[in-house]
Amino acid sequence: MSHITPNKRITTARLKQMKAKGDLITMLTAYDYTMAKILDDSGIEVLLVGDSAANVFAGHDTTLPITVDQMIYHASAVCRGASQALVLVDMPFGSYEENATDAFNAAVKIMKESRAHALKLEGGVEIVPQIKKITAAGIPICGHLGLTPQSVNQFGGFGVRAKDQGEAEKLISDAIALEEAGCFAIVVEKIPAELAKTVSQKVAIPIIGIGSGNGCDGQVLVVNDVLGLTKDFKPKFLRNYLNLYEEISGAVKNYISDVKTKDYPNKNEQY
Ligand code: KIV
Repeated sequence: MSHITPNKRITTARLKQMKAKGDLITMLTAYDYTMAKILDDSGIEVLLVGDSAANVFAGHDTTLPITVDQMIYHASAVCRGASQALVLVDMPFGSYEENATDAFNAAVKIMKESRAHALKLEGGVEIVPQIKKITAAGIPICGHLGLTPQSVNQFGGFGVRAKDQGEAEKLISDAIALEEAGCFAIVVEKIPAELAKTVSQKVAIPIIGIGSGNGCDGQVLVVNDVLGLTKDFKPKFLRNYLNLYEEISGAVKNYISDVKTKDYPNKNEQY
C-alpha cells in the first residue's frame, strides 16, 4: 500500500499552472533510487529518467543503444525514490518512430512496469499520430525539439540547432503541432535563447530548456553534469554546482591509503 497522498504529487496540470503564473519549473535527470530520493527530498519538481542513461550510466557515446527494458529498470528505481516529483521517462530510440500502434504498446509497457507518470518523445509534426494515440490512453506526453540526441547521426554532431531561419520556423510550427496533439510540455535542447523565448510565447504549455537560455518556462540538466561527475564534459550552457569527480577521487585515494597503511579499520571499527 502506498503512503503517498495523490495531492502531494506534482502533476502535469500543476506544471501548466506554474507556467501561467510565471513560476519557473525545475527538472533534473535521475537514473537510480538513491539520487532520485535526494533530488525529490530537495524539492525538484520533475525527475527525468533520460535516455542519457546510455551515456552517463552505461558509457555509450550516444543515446541510441538503450532499450525499453533498460529504461524501465532505471525508471522503476527512480519512481521508488520519488514521493513528490513527477517522474518523466524517455521513450528510447526505435520504440516509437515507426507507427502509432508500436509507440502505444511501448508506452503502455513503460507505464505499467515502471509506475512513471509521463513519457517524453523526440520529434515534431512527424510523431503527431503517436502522441495522439498515446495521450488518448491517458498517458501524458512531453515533446523534445531542437537538438534531439536520438538523431545525432542525421545531424552529424551535438551542435546548436535551429540557427537558420528555415529550421527555426519549423521548430516553432513543430511546437504548435505538439501542443495541439496534446503534449503537456516540450523540452527544447541547444537552440538560440531568442528562439526558445519565442516558442514559449507561442504556446501555453511549459517550454523546458537545456542550453536554450533563460526565456524558457523552466530548466533541465543532466544531474551527473550538475554535480561535476562528468569530468571532461564542459559545454557553455553547463553550470557545475559541485566538483564530485575530484571529491570522490580524493576520498577513494584516502581510503586506499588507509587500507594499505592498516589505518583502516582501527580498533573502533571492528568487532
Ligand atoms: O536524456 C536526457 O537526459 C534528456 C535531457 C538532455 C533533456 O533528454
